[in-house]
Amino acid sequence: MRMILVGPPGAGKGTQAARLVEQFRIPHISSGDMFRAEVKSGSELGKQLDHHMKSGGLVPDDVTIPIVLKRITSPDCANGFLLDGFPRTRPQAEALDREMTKAGVALSAVVLIEVPDSLLEERAVLRRSDPETGTIYHLKYNPPPEAIIPRLVHRADDTKEAVDKRIAKYHSETAPIIPFYSEKGILKKVDGVGDPNAITERIKAVLNS
Ligand code: AP5
Ligand code: MG
Repeated sequence: MRMILVGPPGAGKGTQAARLVEQFRIPHISSGDMFRAEVKSGSELGKQLDHHMKSGGLVPDDVTIPIVLKRITSPDCANGFLLDGFPRTRPQAEALDREMTKAGVALSAVVLIEVPDSLLEERAVLRRSDPETGTIYHLKYNPPPEAIIPRLVHRADDTKEAVDKRIAKYHSETAPIIPFYSEKGILKKVDGVGDPNAITERIKAVLNS
């Protein structure tokens, strides 16, 4: 299984990816998680990434593309992978296409998780992540156990201002990759509103169709 999860910020890509990779036993490759780890390391690259991410902008393609392509060519991805948050520009989609053609492999599916803009801000602003387990919580929709609340992290780009900018970037930069995949006949659309378990079932159903 070589698949991509696409969707606006807060659509539930990370939430669904965690469940799908367990089922398919493939690595979860989140460009956002990779970049946040680099920021946390305090490296020079991390400082550059932080500058783009904090404000809700995109990291430039010439930085993003080599990092992610290197990751998917590592041995643990030989039998498949789930990409979350990459590609999110047309040049990224084309670069991935070239790399996969070169490797003689093909994408199984691109799953678009659809959620209206009006629900996205609340999903992001009330999100909290557990740095110890990587679990994604939501203060209203998936409340964390009381005991771990002090250690939870609120992402620097989960402010109202940055979320609004991320949503706008999604429409201007990422939405154009949707026709690219629909022309290839591998795009599967899933309604991302409702109970997360029901959404996982919807994704599995479109993957089997
Ligand atoms: P990234 O980390 O990819 O963020 P994103 O795309 O904005 O998506 P999020 O992680 O915010 O949302 P999600 O869809 O994973 O939702 P989640 O499951 O957490 O990228 C961050 C930044 O890095 C970018 O802005 C950019 O700067 C940079 N970057 C990354 N990749 C890049 C690339 N390829 N090119 C250039 N720059 C790049 O869910 C959200 C919340 O909702 C949670 O609290 C969750 O509990 C809750 N929730 C989930 N499902 C439901 C549901 N069904 N009902 C109610 N609540 C739900
Ligand atoms: Mg995510």
